[in-house]
Amino acid sequence: MDHSKQENASPEDHDLELKLPHLVFTKTVRELYSKVVNEWDSLKKSACQTAAGRALWKHVIHDPLADVLAGETYLRNLHEKIKKDRHNNAREISGVILAVRTLWFDSKIEAALDSFGGAAQVVLLGAGMDARAYRLNCLKESDVFEVDFPEVLHVKAALLQAALESTEHLRLMAKSLTRVAADIRENDWLEKLQISGFVPEKNTVWVLEGIIYYLSNSQAMQVLKIVADKCTLTHTVLLADFMNKASTTLSSSIFHFYSDWPDNLLPSLGFANVKLSQIGDPDAHFGLMHDPLNLFNKLRNLPRSIEINPDDGTPCRRLYLVQASGSPNQTISLSSIPM
Ligand SMILES: C[S@@+](CC[C@H](N)C(=O)[O-])C[C@H]1O[C@@H](n2cnc3c(N)ncnc32)[C@H](O)[C@@H]1O
Repeated sequence: MDHSKQENASPEDHDLELKLPHLVFTKTVRELYSKVVNEWDSLKKSACQTAAGRALWKHVIHDPLADVLAGETYLRNLHEKIKKDRHNNAREISGVILAVRTLWFDSKIEAALDSFGGAAQVVLLGAGMDARAYRLNCLKESDVFEVDFPEVLHVKAALLQAALESTEHLRLMAKSLTRVAADIRENDWLEKLQISGFVPEKNTVWVLEGIIYYLSNSQAMQVLKIVADKCTLTHTVLLADFMNKASTTLSSSIFHFYSDWPDNLLPSLGFANVKLSQIGDPDAHFGLMHDPLNLFNKLRNLPRSIEINPDDGTPCRRLYLVQASGSPNQTISLSSIPM
């Protein structure tokens, strides 16, 4: 997709009214979603909210399953926010972070698989309603593993079944897809992954998108160490988004783990190469960050050590997009400074 032609495009430039596919209103899908809305906690519901972002930014993200995986409630909620933002001429339209984040992960997954030059594994921790296995052609030689809570994976499988039955052109793009029900706060998730077919010695891309800050500091560090340890066995790429400390104050009951310097933390765990991007940087732009005065462009132009924005006195809330890699033959090139 050519992102250069979409400078600052927001969903309303294309769709003033919310048009939902018929499938969203079918009995099966409605029943599944009443369970989500009435029984799931906010952690699990976040899976549907991110899918709603992909669905409503469909002019830049091609995810034909996002509508049905998001469900009517979350689509309407986000659509209302976007309408308000447009009405108020907001510089940042709701969902733009999700759109950029999705496109950044898509591009880095493809680049990592290219760098391996052959068959690989892709593990999505906290996969939620991610449909990459159905939408990314670059996964055609990859075995994909989706790890999430059993309730999330169960509803996802049922929604996908309904979508695949009603739409002819949807098909699995990945070589294989395996869903692994596990809680990554527990210490048996890696074993469950291996029992499901994951091979630690095979080249692997680990995708931790919108997940790590929901964990406590010790849980997150444990997960990162488990992934980092794989660098001693095989080519390993970690793709993850990190909140800085100020971002976790957006909801201190939901967000816990943070790192202000993930580019120092990850080498200390064993990754040889780490690259950090911020929303709006050349590789995290995608034609959606045209206004130099939008929040993200202002933030990335301030030194990362600055905690309070001198323009308006607000905390500098940052989301870091981080790629890290390692392999048995590499030496660690960056200094090992803890958080
Ligand atoms: C914000 S969503 C992100 C989903 C997906 N990665 C995406 O970007 O669309 C967070 C997901 O992490 C899952 N999750 C949170 N804590 C988890 C845990 N301890 N173990 C497994 N999954 C978890 C939630 O169920 C949810 O699906």
